Amino acid sequence: MKILVTGGAGFIGSHLTDALLAHGHSVAVVDNLSTGLRVQVNPRADFYEMDVADAGLTSLVKKIQSEAVVHLAAQVDVRKSVTDPVEDARVNILGTLNVLEAARQAGVRHFIFASSGGAIYGDTDVRPTPESHPAVPASPYGIGKLSGEHFLRIYRRTFGMRTVALRYANVYGSRQNALGEAGVVAIFAHRLLAGQRAEIFGDGAQSRDFVYVGDVVAANLAALQATVSGAFNIGTGREVTINEVAKLIRQAVGQGEFSYGPAKPGEQMTSCLDNRLAVETLGWHPQMPLEEGIAKTVAWFREPG
Ligand SMILES: NC(=O)c1ccc[n+]([C@@H]2O[C@H](COP(=O)([O-])OP(=O)(O)OC[C@H]3O[C@@H](n4cnc5c(N)ncnc54)[C@H](O)[C@@H]3O)[C@@H](O)[C@H]2O)c1
Repeated sequence: MKILVTGGAGFIGSHLTDALLAHGHSVAVVDNLSTGLRVQVNPRADFYEMDVADAGLTSLVKKIQSEAVVHLAAQVDVRKSVTDPVEDARVNILGTLNVLEAARQAGVRHFIFASSGGAIYGDTDVRPTPESHPAVPASPYGIGKLSGEHFLRIYRRTFGMRTVALRYANVYGSRQNALGEAGVVAIFAHRLLAGQRAEIFGDGAQSRDFVYVGDVVAANLAALQATVSGAFNIGTGREVTINEVAKLIRQAVGQGEFSYGPAKPGEQMTSCLDNRLAVETLGWHPQMPLEEGIAKTVAWFREPG
């Protein structure tokens, strides 16, 4: 199958591109390299440098003639979505709509969207949180992801496109940007390996659900094969505090110190996803235990390759 991956130069998109090629698919990548790296794009993929909100996208997607689109390109910085919500909406709302519309005009039948289970539910007492829980995003980034999901629903209902939103938990693994705002595993691993102290914002009791990038890739492969539409949580159901993750990273690195700084205003305090719908419907199971995934990730940051 020919598959278009937007954001294929990024952390998750580059791993997905590698896996799709390994499964015998052909892959086209569209990415504007704003955070992604050209060297991360598998040389066997066709690469097109373009912004997903660009008016020229429709003719490009028509030219590529893919059967499916996996849309991962996004403004991924939650804090930036607060300081510059208009730019966030340009990329994450208008950009997503532009990709969907280009896909429709090009006759693409199957569309998979990287949504965020970490950002669309907001803080909730119902944890692990199921898809049926009301989505009340706590940031413009979360609003953008939820809005993308609504467009997917409309394109399914109106045009019969098969659309799947995968609501990722906190994804971690090799190639994650250690200098960005998100990606606590990458940031901590990078700092401790460099002999620097890592900073925990607040008291470290904030909880998250950490899912390994290989498991997220597997969820995308499962969604490409499935015949269903809808939204699916892609997490582990294991709720872990930042303090616990910090301890695991220190163990994997073998050394390291953490300091505690002021809490980030408005930061979500809890997140943990109920993955039963994905297990039952997509036949997907997260495979990687957190301890092993962190050890693998630290090993990669020690010696990237
Ligand atoms: N990493 C996580 O924990 C996580 C959690 C939930 C959802 N997601 C979603 O998964 C997707 C991939 O995230 P990632 O962690 O790999 O981040 P990333 O920053 O590594 O990848 C995003 C890619 O999109 C590209 N991009 C950004 N804006 C673009 C634009 N306007 N036009 C074209 N390309 C553009 C970037 O250059 C980059 O290659 C995003 O949609 C993100 O919102 C990630």
